[in-house]
Amino acid sequence: MAAKDITPGTPAHVAIIMDGNGRWATSRGWPRLVGHRRGAERVRAIVKAAPGLGIRYLTIYAFSTENWKRSTEEVIGLMSIFARYIENEAERLSTAGVRLRFIGGREKLDPKLQRLMAGIEERTAGNDVLHLTVAINYGGRDEIARAARRVAEDVAAGTLAPEAVDEEAFAARLDTAGLPDPDLVIRTSGETRISNYLLWQSAYAEYEFTPTLWPDFTPGELADILDRFARRERRYGGVITA
Ligand code: IPE
Ligand code: IPE
Ligand code: MG
Repeated sequence: MAAKDITPGTPAHVAIIMDGNGRWATSRGWPRLVGHRRGAERVRAIVKAAPGLGIRYLTIYAFSTENWKRSTEEVIGLMSIFARYIENEAERLSTAGVRLRFIGGREKLDPKLQRLMAGIEERTAGNDVLHLTVAINYGGRDEIARAARRVAEDVAAGTLAPEAVDEEAFAARLDTAGLPDPDLVIRTSGETRISNYLLWQSAYAEYEFTPTLWPDFTPGELADILDRFARRERRYGGVITA
C-alpha cells in the first residue's frame, strides 16, 4: 500500500453510534423521549460542525433492527422524531450542500416516513459538501443477509456469474454501496460494543469510545477525538516502511 494511504490525517468518513439518550434523561428523572429529543438537537450541531472539521462522510446510527424490542411509546416517539427531523431540516440541509441518505430496511417503517425519506434523498441527491447517512432499522447482519439475497437473485437471473462474486460485487449490493468505508467509528455513553453497526464496512476502522452521553456530545469533543485519530498509525495488515 502506498505510503500516503497510511499517513494519518483527517478521517474522511466518521460513523457514530449515538448512545446514552435514555440514561441522560432518566438520570434527571425525565422520560426517555426527552433524551431522544435532546439527542436530535445534538445531531444538528454535529452535522453543522462536520464539514469545518474536514469530515466528508458522516454516518449515524439512529435505530437498530434490535430497537423494536423497546416499548411502543418509545418506538413511536423515535419514529416521529425522525419524521420531524427530516421536515424541519430539509431546507437547511439542502442549502448547506448536505446529501442525506438512509441505510437499513425500509419496508417495516411507516409509509409516511418512507415517503419523507425518499423525498429528501431525491431533493439532496446533487449535494456534495457533506454526505450524511442515517441508519434507521439498520443492522449489519440484516444488511449482509439482504445483500446475499440480491447476489442470489442476480445469479439466478443470469446477470451475475458465481465466479464474479467477490468483495467488490458484494459491497455493491450493500445499503452503503457507493460510500467509502468508515475510517473512524465513535460510540458515546461508555459502552464498548458495536451493536450490529456497519459490520462489513468497519473491517479496518479505528474505534473511539467516550463515556459522554450522546445529548452531551459536542463539536469540541469531536474535534479532540479527530486530533487523537490523526496520531494513530493505520497499517491495514502491512508494515510501515517510511
Ligand atoms: C441511543 O440512546 C438512541 C437509540 C438507541 C435510539 P439509548 O436510547 O440507547 O440510550 P441508553 O443507552 O438507554 O442510555
Ligand atoms: C445502538 O444502541 C443502536 C443505536 C445507537 C441506534 P443500543 O442502545 O440499542 O445498543 P445496546 O442495546 O446497548 O447494545
Ligand atoms: Mg443504548
